[in-house]
Amino acid sequence: MATASEIAAVGVIGAGQMGSGIAQLAAAAGCAVLLLDADPTALSRAVASISASLLRLAAKGQLSQAAYEDSIKRIRCVSTVQDLRDADLVIEAIVENEDVKKKLFVELDKITKSSAILASNTSSISITRLASSTKRPSQVIGMHFFNPPPIMKLIEIIRGADTTDEVFAAVKSFSERLGKSVICSQDYPGFIVNRILMPMINEAFWALYTGVATKEHIDTGMKLGTNHPMGPLQLADFIGLDVCLSVLRVLHSGLGDNKYSPCPLLVQYVDAGRLGKKRGLGVYSYGQKSSSVKP
Ligand code: NAI
Repeated sequence: MATASEIAAVGVIGAGQMGSGIAQLAAAAGCAVLLLDADPTALSRAVASISASLLRLAAKGQLSQAAYEDSIKRIRCVSTVQDLRDADLVIEAIVENEDVKKKLFVELDKITKSSAILASNTSSISITRLASSTKRPSQVIGMHFFNPPPIMKLIEIIRGADTTDEVFAAVKSFSERLGKSVICSQDYPGFIVNRILMPMINEAFWALYTGVATKEHIDTGMKLGTNHPMGPLQLADFIGLDVCLSVLRVLHSGLGDNKYSPCPLLVQYVDAGRLGKKRGLGVYSYGQKSSSVKP
């Protein structure tokens, strides 16, 4: 198994909001990155957004032109899981759905080299269950980045029931190589951050749904009243309302308490395709026409 300094090739699966940022970080840290997505348009969007993000860093003087070019050159878009066969570490950042993720882990287990570490960026799904779909549960781990990965300073590492100390140490050092601070969570629904954050976001939806206040007043209340950089409804839009709903469902089924039951307004927004900033419309509109769903 590769140690952190031996992790030279990183596979990133899912080139959406999170996967694109993770690919950027790994390339900037000197790794060869293989970026895979089921949707080819997601790959071209990811390359454009990585390039724009690195150029912003260059404009601020935080990256030289040569480092920008080297980072871009290190990222190769690929079209099949087989293309990841030489990766030392694979980080999965696809849709937050346990069955879809398990299917991918089964495939990864078959095609990657026996020493490769398989990590998931899941927001809430059990690492132990993902790991048990493979024949290498000791080399499966949660590597939970925050949005947007190049900016947010934290990685929450989740140890599955069988993750070894060596794998944990390698992933912790690799996370530090990416410039991040690390916290470690046991493998329980929602881990640390989403276990605490998602009930607050859900409560903000309940406040909106039951007419306690407008979305602006709810968000301003939490920004100025609790010194949060953004309100919970705006944050939900940034995370993706589909991701928030999936995490709440995992918390609800895994912890069995009705306090995690998703607010019907959140469910309705997701049903209506109002997924947040990534789709131009969520609780707020981001330069797109509003749908008929009324808060
Ligand atoms: P996203 O919707 O922006 O991107 C997901 C990408 O995965 C899409 O481009 C989609 O085409 C691709 N995809 C779906 N199924 C696939 C498959 N079987 N094979 C290859 N590609 C596939 O979602 P986002 O926000 O990037 O989230 C991805 C993961 O990261 C989820 O597990 C989510 O819970 C987690 N996460 C999300 C955070 C957020 O703030 N959005 C924060 C931390 C973790």
